Amino acid sequence: MSEHHGKPPATVSQFIVATLGGLFAPALVIYLIVKLVVGIHDGHPKDSDQASAQAAVLERIKPVGEVSLKDTSGPQTGKSGEQVVNEICIACHGTGALGAPKIGDSVGWGPRISQGYDTLVKHALQGLRSMPPRGGSPDLSDDEIAGAVAYMANKAGANFKAPQPKTEAASKAKEAPAKDAKK
Ligand code: HEC
Repeated sequence: MSEHHGKPPATVSQFIVATLGGLFAPALVIYLIVKLVVGIHDGHPKDSDQASAQAAVLERIKPVGEVSLKDTSGPQTGKSGEQVVNEICIACHGTGALGAPKIGDSVGWGPRISQGYDTLVKHALQGLRSMPPRGGSPDLSDDEIAGAVAYMANKAGANFKAPQPKTEAASKAKEAPAKDAKK
């Protein structure tokens, strides 16, 4: 009787496939879930990692803006004209690259100097043909540029007076860290 069902009996291989599928599919799902949870857990800093965890938290909660100690309100107390020239402007003005008037070359500087200090400073700030604005160093303050212009022009015979840095503020800025250290 049982031999006369409509469908032929399942073969052994069909049985195995069905069993494997039924058993392993859920097992795979469980395995993936466990892996996911373990993965999330691993993402949390471990106790042994406290220092780096703390650093990470500080990094996350640190204020967006940072206070720069550079005082942009009054005359700058930054680099002297000589420093700026030796670090930046000398790249072109030392060799005459791109047609830059050479430092100390009174022939090259003469006609430029006769334009007046303010015009020279303006050109140094804004750029002039191959001369890049601020000598290509946007970090330099107006006064640092003006100081550098005076330094270079004076080397070529001008007698410009660079804006005086606030010496009081400068010495205060230097004292501050020392006071803290004494505490
Ligand atoms: C990338 C090269 C380069 C650097 C760096 C550079 N200069 Fe120049 N500078 C030039 C060139 C070129 C000229 C001549 C521009 C012209 O007249 O066509 C020039 C001209 C000038 C002049 C004369 C402007 C005028 O009115 O005739 C001043 C002032 C000057 N530079 C200041 C500076 C200062 C200050 C720095 C440093 C902060 C500096 N330059 C750095 C290339 C440079």
